[in-house]
Amino acid sequence: MNFNEEYRKRTEYVESVLKKYLPEKEGLQKIIMEAMEYSLMAGGKRLRPILMLESYRMFGGEGRVIEPFMAAIEMIHTYSLVHDDLPAMDNDDYRRGRRTTHVVYGEDMGILAGDALLNYAFETACRAFDLEEADPRLIGRALQILAGKAGIYGMIGGQVVDVKESGHQIGGEVLDFIYRLKTGALLEASVMTGAVLAGADGEQIAAMEKIAAKTGMAFQIQDDILDVTGSEEVLGKPVHSDEKNEKTTFVTWKGLEESGREVSRLTEEAIAGLSGLGKQDDFLRELLRWLVYREK
Ligand code: IPE
Ligand code: IPE
Ligand code: MG
Ligand code: MG
Ligand code: MG
Repeated sequence: MNFNEEYRKRTEYVESVLKKYLPEKEGLQKIIMEAMEYSLMAGGKRLRPILMLESYRMFGGEGRVIEPFMAAIEMIHTYSLVHDDLPAMDNDDYRRGRRTTHVVYGEDMGILAGDALLNYAFETACRAFDLEEADPRLIGRALQILAGKAGIYGMIGGQVVDVKESGHQIGGEVLDFIYRLKTGALLEASVMTGAVLAGADGEQIAAMEKIAAKTGMAFQIQDDILDVTGSEEVLGKPVHSDEKNEKTTFVTWKGLEESGREVSRLTEEAIAGLSGLGKQDDFLRELLRWLVYREK
């Protein structure tokens, strides 16, 4: 298997799904549709919809019901980035290789574009009910997971503590809480909804949740490493944002070397969790390993 080629195919598929579900730019509120498109179609690794798709396929999913959910998770993730970059939060002016949404459209429209993406994500996911193949029970369960993992017990909860604790020294337990929620939760939602929509059983869904939790932790530690060692050109976002905002990160806590070891350790644990689970998926294994060595 040629990983790069397989990854490219999947990102292209995600892009086409996103385009299909983006709202028309029309009406007096047209500017918000433009801001949504600006942030959503700026590239990005498309990791969450790809994970969702792999999980769906692993458990035998072959239909199109996954598509509105793939679009929805990327909309929720993108909204979290638009808000994360706002002056009141991380105050960053560069994202996915372009100026951040609030810099281009103003802070008011930046806030509203985030709100709009969040709400439109659920409008989009609900369109799964309109498909002929729809199993309303599975779609309902997937919506429930998506809503929960994005909310106060998920991503938003993690962002709250991340922001509140900026400028403070925090220990491993709080750091673990923040990473598990702000980053882990949406990765968990991705693989869990994929599995649910394919008809996986409770045990399989719980196993996927665990794998994504470890991946999310590794992914955020690697993000912290890149904030120190990466370059703005490659990352498409500013470096040293964490230092600027006086964040305690895994890197400030344990140092770069130990952080790198933790990323590898967690990733290998996540990959080990995949054995015996659903159809064996070489691409997913390689994707998880690629995340460790990614430069963006
Ligand atoms: C950035 O996520 C925010 C984190 C959770 C670390 P990604 O690194 O997946 O950002 P994009 O989607 O590729 O831009
Ligand atoms: C943000 O973490 C995670 C989100 C939920 C948006 P960071 O603040 O480290 O993400 P980046 O580095 O700005 O992408
Ligand atoms: Mg942040
Ligand atoms: Mg940030
Ligand atoms: Mg970061």
